[in-house]
Amino acid sequence: MNTVLEAKHINKYFKNPVLFHVLKDINFEVKKGEFASIMGKSGCGKSTLLYILSTMDTDYDGELYLDNNLITGSDNKHLSYMRNKHIGFVFQFHYLLTEFTILENVMLPAKKLGEKSNQEIEHDAMEKLKMLNIEHLAPKRASRVSGGEKQRVAIARALINNPSIIMGDEPTGNLDSHNAENVFNIFKQLSEEENLSLLIVTHDEDFAKKTDRIIQMEDGKIIV
Ligand SMILES: Nc1ncnc2c1ncn2[C@@H]1O[C@H](COP(=O)(O)OP(=O)(O)OP(=O)(O)O)[C@@H](O)[C@H]1O
Ligand SMILES: [Mg+2]
Repeated sequence: MNTVLEAKHINKYFKNPVLFHVLKDINFEVKKGEFASIMGKSGCGKSTLLYILSTMDTDYDGELYLDNNLITGSDNKHLSYMRNKHIGFVFQFHYLLTEFTILENVMLPAKKLGEKSNQEIEHDAMEKLKMLNIEHLAPKRASRVSGGEKQRVAIARALINNPSIIMGDEPTGNLDSHNAENVFNIFKQLSEEENLSLLIVTHDEDFAKKTDRIIQMEDGKIIV
């Protein structure tokens, strides 16, 4: 099976206010189509790890591979390109631009990547919205849709550039159980039908139990 993401001997220190070894020799990989979750107590380093894996934080020791390419040490321009092309993000809070329509929000990462015409991007965005059963929301302002709908829009936006992996930091943390289950089912379907990989930080044990694998963290280390 192909490896989509690999972390090798990742160590990170925060230097302020005191030297703090926050991530300790992190090693793991995510295979193509795998749906993995990361669990661990508050403060154990989950978000810090996700920042590194998503290429946004470059201040660490060790190596990170995306689709078997070494990412560590690349310049900012290349990192930003790789991030846009290969990684989709879903956070606890959706970060939609409220003055823009749903369609425009979903189109944004593709415009930033700049590989397709506006017409093609609009078509792709509508396809993603259809896939998530929210095409009727396309012309609405992002400020005018519900929390559960916003999270589905955020997933559509994360999918627009056809990434190899979706990373999420508590994407269901702000949702009621019905909407959380809905998001889980969408992720599950994406991994099974589109062979997409997912790496999702969650505090929700019911959610984690249903994923293919739980990566358990404790005090900056992966314990299983
Ligand atoms: N910029 C920073 N400078 C110094 N210490 C930090 C910084 N950011 C986070 N930390 C510390 O690093 C540790 C890990 O933080 P992190 O945000 O990764 O935890 P987490 O596992 O995501 O927690 P939560 O479940 O509450 O979101 C914590 O002890 C936190 O206080
Ligand atoms: Mg966190």
